[in-house]
Amino acid sequence: MPAFRTLDDADLAGKRALVRVDLNVPMENGAVSDTTRIDRILPTIRELSQKGAKVVLLAHFGRPKGRDDKNSLKQVVPALAHALGQPVIFVEDCIGEAAAKAIAAAKNGEVLLLENTRFHAGDEKNDPDFVRALAANGDLYVNDAFSAAHRAHASTEGLAHVLPAYAGRTMQAELEALSAGLDNPSRPVMAIVGGAKVSTKLDLLGNLVKKVDVLVIGGGMANTFLAARGVDVGKSLCEHDLVGTAREIEAKAKEAGCEILLPVDALVAREFKAHPGHRVVPVGEVAADEMILDAGPLSVAEVVLKLATMKTVVWNGPFGAFELPPFDTATVTVARAVAEKVRAGTLVAVAGGGDTVAAMNHAGVADDLTYVSTAGGAFLEWMEGKALPGVEALRAR
Ligand code: 3PG
Ligand code: MG
Repeated sequence: MPAFRTLDDADLAGKRALVRVDLNVPMENGAVSDTTRIDRILPTIRELSQKGAKVVLLAHFGRPKGRDDKNSLKQVVPALAHALGQPVIFVEDCIGEAAAKAIAAAKNGEVLLLENTRFHAGDEKNDPDFVRALAANGDLYVNDAFSAAHRAHASTEGLAHVLPAYAGRTMQAELEALSAGLDNPSRPVMAIVGGAKVSTKLDLLGNLVKKVDVLVIGGGMANTFLAARGVDVGKSLCEHDLVGTAREIEAKAKEAGCEILLPVDALVAREFKAHPGHRVVPVGEVAADEMILDAGPLSVAEVVLKLATMKTVVWNGPFGAFELPPFDTATVTVARAVAEKVRAGTLVAVAGGGDTVAAMNHAGVADDLTYVSTAGGAFLEWMEGKALPGVEALRAR
């Protein structure tokens, strides 16, 4: 039994369902350039529509200070209607008479999208008056926006306290996958953490060493750990002021019985660009004018070998500068090894975070992992072991 209500528990026919979704999608030249988040919310919208609810979508876009065209959700309507295969009625305000009238006029099963909730300051402030104004247009609340669940806003948290509240299908799937990844995993568990900076992932590393059996550190942040072990990393990205912190994390890991894997060799270059002259060296042999831009083949082999004994992998952040070939090699090779084991049924693998989704897509394995989360900040906070207000509000009743 999940600790929150799902759509299985909801009486939907003829009801006004306020559905919080994440339509904070990337745009290029006025069109949606990546529809992943739209695709993810389709099951919930379709189910609500088929069960005869009036589907009223609430979402934010960008971080506006008040109303502005640049952040209007109107620009997302064509992509959403296209993906849904059904018209979407756009309403220029998320509260008040315009919304009330449009919802009253809609037939059961129709889908409406209300304008950016953040055009009202009350959303981010979780202002009770604004919560009431939103709630006035709904009979029930469905939250399908895990990726905004780290925000305690009116549309992500407040509404769950004033209307009967349910997890949408994507929220449900995400929570189940994440719980299998870290809360209640089959062991041994490996976490892979990459990305540029240790400073943005201190809480994450601190939590992970207590929970996982093996912690693989990649990306620029591995350089800080190497420097802490006395390795000269040349011109590599490195937070030299954090070597003390890196040593503390290593000590914590040792105490908790968590093995930390750092690169033993690296791809190094003098220039930060695609296909520069590069060489493979043991990490102790980086020249003063060279940068580490990816983990080397021995390091990759070590991770892949270790994977063979793992039952669960949780992954956030690429190994190298994966947008610049050949420095995508470690990320792609490990991602494919992970995917192969998931397909063979011997591994549960959950990955998340903006760069990580791009990296898994690039490796061609996004559909092969157990779950790939589109959440950025929310995924990180979950990996940090923090309670997410949007999720907690669904449980509390
Ligand atoms: C995201 O894009 O990560 C979510 O939609 C949350 O957006 P925010 O960081 O502006 O709250
Ligand atoms: Mg964000």
